[in-house]
Amino acid sequence: MFHPTLPDSVTVLPGTDVEGEWERFAPFEAMHHLHDICNPMDAASLEEVLDHLSPADGERMLDVACGHGEFLLRAAERSVIEGVGLDLSPWVLARASGRAHDRALRGTVEWWLGDGNALDRRQQWDVSTCLGASWIWHGFSGTLRALAGRTHPGGRIAIGDLRTKTGLATEVVEAVIGAGTKMTTEADQIEVIRENGLDPIHCYVSPEEAWAGYHRLVVESADTYQGPDPAVNARAMARAWQEEFERDRRILEWTVWIVRKPGHPVSP
Ligand SMILES: C[S@@+](CC[C@H](N)C(=O)[O-])C[C@H]1O[C@@H](n2cnc3c(N)ncnc32)[C@H](O)[C@@H]1O
Repeated sequence: MFHPTLPDSVTVLPGTDVEGEWERFAPFEAMHHLHDICNPMDAASLEEVLDHLSPADGERMLDVACGHGEFLLRAAERSVIEGVGLDLSPWVLARASGRAHDRALRGTVEWWLGDGNALDRRQQWDVSTCLGASWIWHGFSGTLRALAGRTHPGGRIAIGDLRTKTGLATEVVEAVIGAGTKMTTEADQIEVIRENGLDPIHCYVSPEEAWAGYHRLVVESADTYQGPDPAVNARAMARAWQEEFERDRRILEWTVWIVRKPGHPVSP
């Protein structure tokens, strides 16, 4: 398909089917080209999460599924980090790399194109995050394990994911998603954090309006999209997605957990 050129500043990880990913992620591009943040979060909520993650000068920070890079760029504006934003979509990394030029960064940021799941386990980070792509490791639990395994003792982790609203009766949840479908709850999240020996620092819960705003922008993106043909009806897809949100918002909420891995960093 016709698409922009991948900037030289983007590193392609071994085994990545670049041409295939341009094609696969074209619908996401049509529905997100107007977003700075491809999640139900705004600038203030990213700052809140960064306050708790506290990336420090000299630390290495990995953001898996970094989208347009806004979270990592804010971290690199705060501190002299060595940041890496990894994503499987060439579209989002082309935009992230362009956006980085307009920012007064104190640290450095690299952009890696590849599958989060294929990321080398031997690489260890001081701060590891994944906001809104928990499917890569099959949910909150797998994502926490994957990031904890790649984070130094003393390091911090942030995971953005959906969960059922705390305190809802099972019948209310089942009336929306059907009996037998298990959704992650706050209690599940806390149990998994404890089981993995991690210390909870903070849980950000997105206001419903932020989630609605995200979907309004998805519809506006699809309606105004003029880029290469995404080979799907993006307008219809954006509206169907918004309808799903109208159903899900009755029982689900968007959260970001920030946790710490106990211990002290080992000096190099
Ligand atoms: C909901 S967006 C979140 C983007 C970003 N974290 C943000 O908050 O703006 C999900 C991102 O996951 C990326 N993605 C999907 N599958 C992936 C995979 N297997 N490995 C890495 N990134 C992936 C998509 O390209 C998209 O940028």
